Amino acid sequence: MNDDLIISPSILAADFSRIGDEVAAVDAAGADWIHLDVMDGHFVPNLTFGPPLIEALRPHSKKNFDTHLMVSNPDSMLADYAAAGSDIITVHMEACTHLDRTLSHIRELGCKAGVSLNPHTAIDGLQHVLDRLDLILVMTVNPGFGGQSFIKAMLEKITAVKSMIGHRPIIIEVDGGVTADNAGQIVNAGARALVVGSAVFKGSEYAKNIASIRAANL
Ligand code: DX5
Ligand code: ZN
Repeated sequence: MNDDLIISPSILAADFSRIGDEVAAVDAAGADWIHLDVMDGHFVPNLTFGPPLIEALRPHSKKNFDTHLMVSNPDSMLADYAAAGSDIITVHMEACTHLDRTLSHIRELGCKAGVSLNPHTAIDGLQHVLDRLDLILVMTVNPGFGGQSFIKAMLEKITAVKSMIGHRPIIIEVDGGVTADNAGQIVNAGARALVVGSAVFKGSEYAKNIASIRAANL
């Protein structure tokens, strides 16, 4: 059992017709953070929600709001995502021409700054912004949809990110296809935070689902 493990349920897998109640339910079931997948229909094929929904959800949980921006041009709306109640804002390296500036901006807005990497993206681009970062989000599926299978080759990438950050206080978060069956391997490779959509929201026993993922970390 790993007490440091952070489980961040992705509301993409929740029932959108009762989204406020769903956030409150995973909070009560033991979620550490709430993962909010913002998709623009451009950077990724799918489309979800923006700042107004995040703001509407804010009263339903006091847990950190972990906002994952899968959008082509995140810079123009960072202030809106911060004002809506995000605690962490993660942008995609592939979407940021001036990543150094973007990360500084997120911190100036009072949020923790994260960078996400698509499965094919090399980690080298992060080397010179490590002092600007609070979190690295390793995508273990191609972003855009919940319910996909974990790409096993990403375990090696997680280990490489862990080695690159050394003793810096940067959280490695993993997103896509995480289940109770692979959570142990992912944490052993170096992850501290797990985004979990389908495997938390399946059935109606959210507390049991979260506990089984936590218990998977030997
Ligand atoms: C995928 C999203 C994920 C997704 C995870 O683009 O970033 O957060 O909701 O869902 P599961 O856990 O079902 O793969
Ligand atoms: Zn996500």
